[in-house]
Amino acid sequence: MTGPGSATGSGATQPTPGQRRPWVVGVSGASGTPYAAAVLRGLLDAGADIDLVISRAARLTLLDETGITWSQSGWATCLAEWVGRSADVLSVRVRHWAPGDLGAGPASGSYPTRGMVVVPASTASVAGIALGLSKDLLQRAADVTIKEGRRLVVVPRETPLTSITLEHLLSLARAGVVVAPASPGFYTGAQTVADLVDFVAGKVLDNLGVEHQLLHRWSGQLGTSSGPNAAGSPGHARGSERPGGWS
Ligand SMILES: Cc1cc2nc3c(=O)[nH]c(=O)nc-3n(C[C@H](O)[C@H](O)[C@H](O)COP(=O)(O)O)c2cc1C
Repeated sequence: MTGPGSATGSGATQPTPGQRRPWVVGVSGASGTPYAAAVLRGLLDAGADIDLVISRAARLTLLDETGITWSQSGWATCLAEWVGRSADVLSVRVRHWAPGDLGAGPASGSYPTRGMVVVPASTASVAGIALGLSKDLLQRAADVTIKEGRRLVVVPRETPLTSITLEHLLSLARAGVVVAPASPGFYTGAQTVADLVDFVAGKVLDNLGVEHQLLHRWSGQLGTSSGPNAAGSPGHARGSERPGGWS
């Protein structure tokens, strides 16, 4: 299966056998760098190659949320500190591109990739991609991903959303882009913030067609999550239970 709905991300451009075919990961300047780190770890753990684009604004959120000062020349060390993997492994598996490098590989449809994820996606990047602005490499790579019929997953993080952003997201969805908001579910028995982050990353990887163990999948039975407020747990309000077992 090819086209925007393809889980394999195999677009019109076919690579030669054995050719490197990375996932492009675009990190824009919305809050939510832990989501990006979890997706990157998931891709690495699945054995995928990655082309990484960090927007200029994302350097600010990264600094604010992790204390890491991103450096172009020392990117592998910065990435190792951020995602908790060795810089040696990362320098082999990850190709890092500067956000202003419009001559980079992912700026062209003839450069083979599996597809792309923008995580987190700022409203500015959502707008730029929806309008086809290609004002930087992240937006251009996303535009290329859409035009080549490869899988693009966008993870918006903003609240509340304006009608402007909602219309941009609708345009993306109509173009075959998977819009996967950073909105963790609580039905999997999350106990920690990391569990909630992994839930979002897991849903992203599901939509890229990448195997992972980041979330407990719904079993089809209510009250089986192990969270603090799960049915049967000490925190659960038993008095308000409904016949079906949930409250
Ligand atoms: C600390 C910080 C947090 C931000 N959080 C968000 C956010 O959650 N969502 C959003 O859309 N923009 C957020 N912004 C604003 C974006 O960074 C800004 O719109 C920027 O132009 C996005 O550029 P980019 O899409 O090229 O990365 C934040 C900015 C800063 C400095």
